[in-house]
Amino acid sequence: MRSIKVERFNDKVVFITGGASGLGEQTAKDFAEEGAKVTIYDFDGENGKRVESGVKEAGGEIMFIEGDVRDKAAVDQAVQKTFDTYGPVDFLIHSAGILQDGMIHKLPEERWDAVIDTHLKGFFLSMQSCVKRWIDICKADPKDDIADNPDRRIITISSQAAEGNIGQLNYSAAKSGMLGMVKTAGLELIRYNVRTHAIMPTLIETPILGELLSKQDGKWRKYYSGRIPLGIGEPEYVSRVILFLCSDDAWFMNGEIIGINGGRLDKV
Ligand SMILES: NC(=O)c1ccc[n+]([C@@H]2O[C@H](COP(=O)([O-])OP(=O)(O)OC[C@H]3O[C@@H](n4cnc5c(N)ncnc54)[C@H](O)[C@@H]3O)[C@@H](O)[C@H]2O)c1
Repeated sequence: MRSIKVERFNDKVVFITGGASGLGEQTAKDFAEEGAKVTIYDFDGENGKRVESGVKEAGGEIMFIEGDVRDKAAVDQAVQKTFDTYGPVDFLIHSAGILQDGMIHKLPEERWDAVIDTHLKGFFLSMQSCVKRWIDICKADPKDDIADNPDRRIITISSQAAEGNIGQLNYSAAKSGMLGMVKTAGLELIRYNVRTHAIMPTLIETPILGELLSKQDGKWRKYYSGRIPLGIGEPEYVSRVILFLCSDDAWFMNGEIIGINGGRLDKV
Protein backbone atom coordinates (compact mmCIF):
# COMPACT_ATOMS: atom_id res chain seq x y z
CA MET A 1 0.00 0.00 0.00
CA ARG A 2 1.25 3.51 -0.81
CA SER A 3 1.58 5.61 2.32
CA ILE A 4 2.99 8.82 0.84
CA LYS A 5 0.45 10.93 -1.02
CA VAL A 6 1.65 11.65 -4.54
CA GLU A 7 1.16 15.25 -5.59
CA ARG A 8 1.76 15.35 -9.31
CA PHE A 9 0.52 18.87 -9.94
CA ASN A 10 2.07 21.14 -7.31
CA ASP A 11 1.68 24.77 -8.46
CA LYS A 12 0.22 23.78 -11.83
CA VAL A 13 -2.65 26.05 -12.90
CA VAL A 14 -5.85 24.48 -14.19
CA PHE A 15 -8.83 26.21 -15.83
CA ILE A 16 -11.98 24.06 -15.80
CA THR A 17 -15.16 25.08 -17.62
CA GLY A 18 -18.26 23.51 -16.09
CA GLY A 19 -16.37 22.96 -12.85
CA ALA A 20 -19.41 23.54 -10.62
CA SER A 21 -20.86 20.07 -11.06
CA GLY A 22 -20.32 16.48 -12.09
CA LEU A 23 -17.15 15.61 -13.98
CA GLY A 24 -15.72 19.15 -13.84
CA GLU A 25 -16.32 19.30 -10.08
CA GLN A 26 -14.59 15.96 -9.48
CA THR A 27 -11.69 17.01 -11.69
CA ALA A 28 -11.33 20.29 -9.79
CA LYS A 29 -11.25 18.45 -6.45
CA ASP A 30 -8.73 15.89 -7.67
CA PHE A 31 -6.39 18.52 -9.12
CA ALA A 32 -6.61 20.62 -5.94
CA GLU A 33 -5.86 17.54 -3.84
CA GLU A 34 -2.71 17.00 -5.88
CA GLY A 35 -1.44 20.52 -5.35
CA ALA A 36 -2.80 22.42 -8.37
CA LYS A 37 -4.30 25.91 -8.34
CA VAL A 38 -7.71 25.61 -9.90
CA THR A 39 -10.15 28.02 -11.53
CA ILE A 40 -13.67 26.73 -12.07
CA TYR A 41 -15.67 28.71 -14.60
CA ASP A 42 -19.41 28.03 -14.67
CA PHE A 43 -22.70 29.90 -15.00
CA ASP A 44 -24.14 28.09 -11.97
CA GLY A 45 -23.28 30.51 -9.16
CA GLU A 46 -24.70 28.46 -6.31
CA ASN A 47 -22.85 25.26 -7.12
CA GLY A 48 -19.71 27.15 -8.11
CA LYS A 49 -19.54 28.68 -4.61
CA ARG A 50 -20.31 25.29 -3.04
CA VAL A 51 -17.39 23.61 -4.84
CA GLU A 52 -15.09 26.56 -4.14
CA SER A 53 -15.76 26.54 -0.38
CA GLY A 54 -15.53 22.72 -0.17
CA VAL A 55 -12.11 22.66 -1.81
CA LYS A 56 -10.88 25.59 0.32
CA GLU A 57 -12.04 23.88 3.52
CA ALA A 58 -10.07 20.80 2.47
CA GLY A 59 -6.96 23.00 2.12
CA GLY A 60 -6.96 23.31 -1.67
CA GLU A 61 -6.39 26.39 -3.81
CA ILE A 62 -9.40 27.26 -5.95
CA MET A 63 -11.21 30.25 -7.44
CA PHE A 64 -14.76 30.24 -8.78
CA ILE A 65 -15.56 32.65 -11.60
CA GLU A 66 -19.18 32.90 -12.65
CA GLY A 67 -19.82 33.15 -16.36
CA ASP A 68 -21.14 31.63 -19.54
CA VAL A 69 -18.79 29.61 -21.72
CA ARG A 70 -20.53 31.01 -24.83
CA ASP A 71 -19.56 34.59 -23.92
CA LYS A 72 -16.20 35.41 -25.55
CA ALA A 73 -15.43 38.50 -23.46
CA ALA A 74 -16.40 36.82 -20.19
CA VAL A 75 -14.33 33.70 -20.94
CA ASP A 76 -11.34 35.85 -21.84
CA GLN A 77 -11.67 37.90 -18.65
CA ALA A 78 -11.82 34.72 -16.57
CA VAL A 79 -8.70 33.33 -18.22
CA GLN A 80 -6.92 36.67 -17.71
CA LYS A 81 -7.96 36.72 -14.04
CA THR A 82 -6.52 33.23 -13.66
CA PHE A 83 -3.20 34.31 -15.24
CA ASP A 84 -3.13 37.39 -12.97
CA THR A 85 -3.94 35.44 -9.80
CA TYR A 86 -2.19 32.10 -10.24
CA GLY A 87 0.14 32.60 -13.22
CA PRO A 88 -0.17 31.10 -16.71
CA VAL A 89 -2.76 28.34 -17.13
CA ASP A 90 -1.07 24.97 -17.68
CA PHE A 91 -4.12 22.81 -18.33
CA LEU A 92 -7.49 23.70 -19.89
CA ILE A 93 -10.30 21.24 -19.20
CA HIS A 94 -13.56 21.85 -21.09
CA SER A 95 -16.35 20.15 -19.15
CA ALA A 96 -19.23 22.65 -19.51
CA GLY A 97 -22.10 20.83 -21.12
CA ILE A 98 -25.86 20.48 -21.40
CA LEU A 99 -28.34 18.01 -22.80
CA GLN A 100 -31.37 19.23 -24.75
CA ASP A 101 -32.55 16.08 -26.45
CA GLY A 102 -35.25 15.73 -29.10
CA MET A 103 -36.10 13.56 -32.07
CA ILE A 104 -35.00 15.04 -35.39
CA HIS A 105 -38.47 15.94 -36.66
CA LYS A 106 -39.33 17.80 -33.45
CA LEU A 107 -36.00 19.29 -32.37
CA PRO A 108 -36.44 23.07 -31.90
CA GLU A 109 -33.77 25.27 -33.45
CA GLU A 110 -33.05 26.82 -30.03
CA ARG A 111 -32.10 23.39 -28.66
CA TRP A 112 -29.76 22.85 -31.59
CA ASP A 113 -28.10 26.23 -31.01
CA ALA A 114 -27.84 25.85 -27.22
CA VAL A 115 -26.11 22.47 -27.40
CA ILE A 116 -23.79 23.31 -30.30
CA ASP A 117 -22.81 26.64 -28.73
CA THR A 118 -22.15 25.27 -25.25
CA HIS A 119 -20.05 22.32 -26.33
CA LEU A 120 -18.34 23.56 -29.49
CA LYS A 121 -18.24 27.34 -29.28
CA GLY A 122 -17.46 27.06 -25.57
CA PHE A 123 -14.53 24.79 -26.38
CA PHE A 124 -13.34 27.12 -29.14
CA LEU A 125 -13.54 30.26 -27.00
CA SER A 126 -11.84 28.80 -23.93
CA MET A 127 -9.16 27.15 -26.09
CA GLN A 128 -8.51 30.35 -28.07
CA SER A 129 -8.25 32.44 -24.93
CA CYS A 130 -5.59 30.15 -23.42
CA VAL A 131 -3.77 29.42 -26.67
CA LYS A 132 -3.21 33.03 -27.71
CA ARG A 133 -1.56 33.71 -24.35
CA TRP A 134 0.52 30.53 -24.57
CA ILE A 135 1.76 31.46 -28.04
CA ASP A 136 2.70 34.96 -26.85
CA ILE A 137 4.75 33.39 -24.06
CA CYS A 138 6.55 31.06 -26.51
CA LYS A 139 7.22 33.88 -28.97
CA ALA A 140 8.63 36.13 -26.26
CA ASP A 141 11.23 33.49 -25.38
CA PRO A 142 11.88 31.28 -28.44
CA LYS A 143 13.37 27.83 -27.86
CA ASP A 144 15.27 25.51 -30.20
CA ASP A 145 13.42 22.43 -28.98
CA ILE A 146 9.63 22.22 -28.70
CA ALA A 147 9.91 20.47 -25.35
CA ASP A 148 11.79 23.41 -23.83
CA ASN A 149 8.61 25.50 -24.00
CA PRO A 150 6.20 25.30 -21.03
CA ASP A 151 4.25 22.01 -21.09
CA ARG A 152 0.52 22.72 -21.71
CA ARG A 153 -2.46 20.40 -22.08
CA ILE A 154 -6.01 20.77 -23.38
CA ILE A 155 -8.60 18.10 -22.55
CA THR A 156 -12.21 18.19 -23.71
CA ILE A 157 -15.01 15.84 -22.74
CA SER A 158 -16.67 14.31 -25.77
CA SER A 159 -18.96 11.29 -25.32
CA GLN A 160 -19.68 7.84 -26.68
CA ALA A 161 -22.72 9.58 -28.16
CA ALA A 162 -20.32 11.13 -30.72
CA GLU A 163 -20.93 7.93 -32.67
CA GLY A 164 -24.68 8.59 -32.77
CA ASN A 165 -27.54 8.20 -30.33
CA ILE A 166 -31.31 8.31 -30.79
CA GLY A 167 -32.76 11.68 -29.74
CA GLN A 168 -29.36 13.37 -29.62
CA LEU A 169 -28.76 14.85 -33.07
CA ASN A 170 -27.48 18.10 -31.55
CA TYR A 171 -25.41 16.40 -28.84
CA SER A 172 -23.81 13.83 -31.15
CA ALA A 173 -22.99 16.61 -33.64
CA ALA A 174 -21.32 18.60 -30.86
CA LYS A 175 -19.45 15.64 -29.42
CA SER A 176 -18.16 14.42 -32.80
CA GLY A 177 -17.30 18.01 -33.75
CA MET A 178 -15.03 18.13 -30.74
CA LEU A 179 -13.04 15.21 -32.13
CA GLY A 180 -12.15 17.16 -35.28
CA MET A 181 -11.23 20.16 -33.16
CA VAL A 182 -8.90 18.02 -31.06
CA LYS A 183 -7.15 16.61 -34.13
CA THR A 184 -6.71 20.11 -35.59
CA ALA A 185 -5.50 21.58 -32.32
CA GLY A 186 -3.16 18.61 -31.88
CA LEU A 187 -1.61 19.30 -35.28
CA GLU A 188 -1.48 23.06 -34.91
CA LEU A 189 -0.34 23.47 -31.32
CA ILE A 190 2.28 20.79 -30.72
CA ARG A 191 4.90 23.21 -32.07
CA TYR A 192 4.18 25.21 -28.88
CA ASN A 193 4.44 22.11 -26.67
CA VAL A 194 0.65 21.95 -26.26
CA ARG A 195 -0.95 18.47 -26.28
CA THR A 196 -4.68 18.20 -26.97
CA HIS A 197 -6.92 15.22 -26.22
CA ALA A 198 -10.59 14.23 -26.04
CA ILE A 199 -12.12 11.65 -23.77
CA MET A 200 -15.31 9.77 -24.62
CA PRO A 201 -17.06 8.58 -21.47
CA THR A 202 -20.02 6.24 -21.41
CA LEU A 203 -22.88 6.97 -18.98
CA ILE A 204 -21.60 8.50 -15.74
CA GLU A 205 -23.93 9.33 -12.85
CA THR A 206 -23.95 13.14 -12.62
CA PRO A 207 -26.62 15.87 -12.48
CA ILE A 208 -26.65 16.24 -16.28
CA LEU A 209 -28.75 13.05 -16.42
CA GLY A 210 -31.61 14.72 -14.53
CA GLU A 211 -34.33 12.19 -13.75
CA LEU A 212 -33.11 9.64 -16.29
CA LEU A 213 -31.94 7.02 -13.81
CA SER A 214 -34.78 7.40 -11.30
CA LYS A 215 -37.85 7.78 -13.54
CA GLN A 216 -40.16 4.92 -14.50
CA ASP A 217 -39.22 2.87 -11.40
CA GLY A 218 -35.56 2.81 -12.37
CA LYS A 219 -36.22 1.27 -15.79
CA TRP A 220 -33.36 3.18 -17.39
CA ARG A 221 -30.96 2.49 -14.52
CA LYS A 222 -31.57 -1.23 -15.05
CA TYR A 223 -31.23 -0.82 -18.81
CA TYR A 224 -27.86 0.96 -18.65
CA SER A 225 -26.56 -1.20 -15.80
CA GLY A 226 -27.23 -4.19 -18.00
CA ARG A 227 -25.58 -2.71 -21.07
CA ILE A 228 -22.36 -1.38 -19.54
CA PRO A 229 -20.33 -4.40 -18.37
CA LEU A 230 -18.72 -2.55 -15.43
CA GLY A 231 -21.92 -0.63 -14.59
CA ILE A 232 -22.89 3.04 -14.72
CA GLY A 233 -19.77 5.13 -14.11
CA GLU A 234 -18.75 7.41 -11.26
CA PRO A 235 -17.15 10.84 -11.86
CA GLU A 236 -13.77 9.79 -10.53
CA TYR A 237 -13.44 7.16 -13.27
CA VAL A 238 -13.31 10.11 -15.65
CA SER A 239 -11.30 12.59 -13.57
CA ARG A 240 -8.53 10.02 -13.05
CA VAL A 241 -8.07 9.76 -16.82
CA ILE A 242 -8.05 13.55 -17.18
CA LEU A 243 -5.33 13.82 -14.53
CA PHE A 244 -3.34 11.07 -16.26
CA LEU A 245 -3.58 12.96 -19.58
CA CYS A 246 -2.19 16.05 -17.83
CA SER A 247 0.57 14.14 -16.06
CA ASP A 248 4.19 13.50 -17.03
CA ASP A 249 3.16 9.91 -17.81
CA ALA A 250 1.21 11.16 -20.85
CA TRP A 251 4.04 13.42 -22.06
CA PHE A 252 4.52 11.56 -25.36
CA MET A 253 0.81 11.57 -26.32
CA ASN A 254 -1.03 14.12 -28.50
CA GLY A 255 -4.35 14.35 -30.32
CA GLU A 256 -5.72 11.16 -28.75
CA ILE A 257 -9.37 10.21 -28.35
CA ILE A 258 -9.70 8.03 -25.28
CA GLY A 259 -12.77 5.91 -24.56
CA ILE A 260 -13.86 5.57 -20.92
CA ASN A 261 -16.38 2.91 -21.68
CA GLY A 262 -17.02 0.74 -18.62
CA GLY A 263 -16.03 -2.20 -20.76
CA ARG A 264 -18.65 -1.42 -23.36
CA LEU A 265 -17.49 -1.37 -26.97
CA ASP A 266 -20.75 -0.63 -28.76
CA LYS A 267 -22.67 2.63 -28.51
CA VAL A 268 -24.60 4.21 -25.61
N1 LIG B 1 -22.45 12.32 -17.29
C1 LIG B 1 -22.34 11.60 -18.40
O1 LIG B 1 -22.90 10.51 -18.53
C2 LIG B 1 -21.46 12.11 -19.52
C3 LIG B 1 -21.03 11.18 -20.47
C4 LIG B 1 -20.24 11.63 -21.52
C5 LIG B 1 -19.91 12.97 -21.63
N2 LIG B 1 -20.35 13.85 -20.68
C6 LIG B 1 -19.98 15.25 -20.84
O2 LIG B 1 -19.20 15.64 -19.75
C7 LIG B 1 -19.32 17.07 -19.57
C8 LIG B 1 -19.65 17.34 -18.11
O3 LIG B 1 -20.95 16.81 -17.85
P1 LIG B 1 -21.43 16.39 -16.41
O4 LIG B 1 -21.93 15.01 -16.51
O5 LIG B 1 -20.40 16.74 -15.43
O6 LIG B 1 -22.71 17.35 -16.27
P2 LIG B 1 -23.12 18.38 -15.11
O7 LIG B 1 -24.45 18.89 -15.50
O8 LIG B 1 -22.96 17.73 -13.78
O9 LIG B 1 -22.02 19.54 -15.24
C9 LIG B 1 -21.98 20.39 -16.34
C10 LIG B 1 -21.64 21.79 -15.84
O10 LIG B 1 -21.54 22.65 -16.98
C11 LIG B 1 -22.11 23.90 -16.62
N3 LIG B 1 -22.52 24.62 -17.83
C12 LIG B 1 -23.43 24.23 -18.74
N4 LIG B 1 -23.55 25.16 -19.70
C13 LIG B 1 -22.69 26.17 -19.38
C14 LIG B 1 -22.37 27.41 -19.97
N5 LIG B 1 -22.98 27.83 -21.10
N6 LIG B 1 -21.44 28.19 -19.39
C15 LIG B 1 -20.84 27.80 -18.22
N7 LIG B 1 -21.12 26.63 -17.61
C16 LIG B 1 -22.03 25.82 -18.18
C17 LIG B 1 -23.28 23.53 -15.73
O11 LIG B 1 -23.74 24.63 -14.95
C18 LIG B 1 -22.71 22.40 -14.91
O12 LIG B 1 -22.13 22.88 -13.73
C19 LIG B 1 -20.39 17.52 -20.56
O13 LIG B 1 -19.78 18.04 -21.70
C20 LIG B 1 -21.12 16.24 -20.88
O14 LIG B 1 -21.72 16.31 -22.14
C21 LIG B 1 -21.11 13.45 -19.63
